[in-house]
Amino acid sequence: MKVTVFGIGYVGLVQAAVLAEVGHQVVCVDVDQNKVDNLEKGIIPIYEPGLTPLVKSNFEAGRVKFTTDAIKGVEHGDVVFIAVGTPPDEDGSADLKYVLAVAKTIAEAMTKHKIVINKSTVPVGTADKVKAKIAEVQESLGKSISYDVVSNPEFLKEGAAVNDCMRPDRIIIGTNSDGAEKKLRELYAPFNRNHDKIIVMDIRSAELTKYAANCMLATKISFMNEMANLAEVFGADIENVRLGIGSDPRIGYQFIYPGCGYGGSCFPKDVQALARSATEAGYTAKILESVEAVNYKQKEKLFEYISGHFGNNLKGKTAAIWGLSFKPNTDDMREASSRVLMEHLWEAGVKVQAYDPEAMEETQRIYGARDDLTLAGTKEAALKGADFLVICTEWQVFRAPDFELIKQSLSEPLLFDGRNLFEPSLMQEYGLHYYAIGRGL
Ligand code: UGA
Repeated sequence: MKVTVFGIGYVGLVQAAVLAEVGHQVVCVDVDQNKVDNLEKGIIPIYEPGLTPLVKSNFEAGRVKFTTDAIKGVEHGDVVFIAVGTPPDEDGSADLKYVLAVAKTIAEAMTKHKIVINKSTVPVGTADKVKAKIAEVQESLGKSISYDVVSNPEFLKEGAAVNDCMRPDRIIIGTNSDGAEKKLRELYAPFNRNHDKIIVMDIRSAELTKYAANCMLATKISFMNEMANLAEVFGADIENVRLGIGSDPRIGYQFIYPGCGYGGSCFPKDVQALARSATEAGYTAKILESVEAVNYKQKEKLFEYISGHFGNNLKGKTAAIWGLSFKPNTDDMREASSRVLMEHLWEAGVKVQAYDPEAMEETQRIYGARDDLTLAGTKEAALKGADFLVICTEWQVFRAPDFELIKQSLSEPLLFDGRNLFEPSLMQEYGLHYYAIGRGL
């Protein structure tokens, strides 16, 4: 099938590569010429396991092409994905300007029937806005070409995006058109083997499903973080509580890991956006507002432990930080807890020596050169001359470190763990003073 994808971001690029891999003819359109040139050279703008070889091989086989030529893009696809960004507005609601700009382009360039697929995470009602935009532009141009607008949200996780896209656990199709449903069933048939993963529903329910899924997961995390805080208040250990409640299959073990808060490009933005659109619609989404507020506070947690430990004697100290990305297996620093921590430390006059397996360049790009930030080449180098160690991201390489070396390298045997990687009793054996989340220590 001929497919066009507007927006070569995370979602667009992974989707395009995966569709090309199963044999569809994909054209990707982006406004960024540099990005297009790089992709043609095999340089992928994001770090995502498995993505580079997938993009390269499909580009070499001619199944995926990259261009800035939007008109050619519209001409090519029978189905046209909109996978551009929906950044938060000042008030946290999703900004639809890029989505509607693509809708306008499609309307201007289309010469035959198109199925327009909203892949970006967009507020409920956006498909109607896209429809209206296409109608308005067509009318102003004196055109009357038929089209469908479908909501088909994406559920991939960074760090596992290729696999999630190749083996989806559900494919949500929001449409009121039998023709569009048939076409999307054909498009996704290669990913819909073994049992039917396609769930067809009305457009608004599909749009809300995406937000509901992310908000439910974010709620689980904030709930657990609140329990972790209560465990501290009551002298309990949240890790025991986690094991105890996760064994109930109705609760389950997934997404109940307490920590220094959730980050990334999805949860913070989506919880906020749904809460804001609820308010706009005259409904106060109390749970969502609390989920957001708890997470905001949770990101302060590590600094609270550190300042609590040192009192007024923080100035002039050096912190070693392990893990900067918002989660492992990505270089993404958006809304990462490490940023909140580093910014507090700098404000308190603390120097930072940081190491992350993938996010060093991104950190450099965000913060530039500054005297109070050293990007260390290894996790061991980050420890040298530091006063204490903080873990912000649970990369595998941090899970079994040389504790003796940590102790020897630091001026104080002090470890603040934002991801609860170690057993407090083991830390005690190593003579490390250990702060973790909700472990009553
Ligand atoms: C999330 C969802 O998991 C995907 O299903 C969804 O498709 C995606 O958003 C999206 O909307 O595009 P992602 O943001 O890549 O995926 O990351 P997650 O693996 O969900 O982690 C998000 C944050 O939650 C991380 O900061 C992680 O450290 C934190 N987290 C996760 C916890 O603090 N505790 C947990 O138990 C799980």
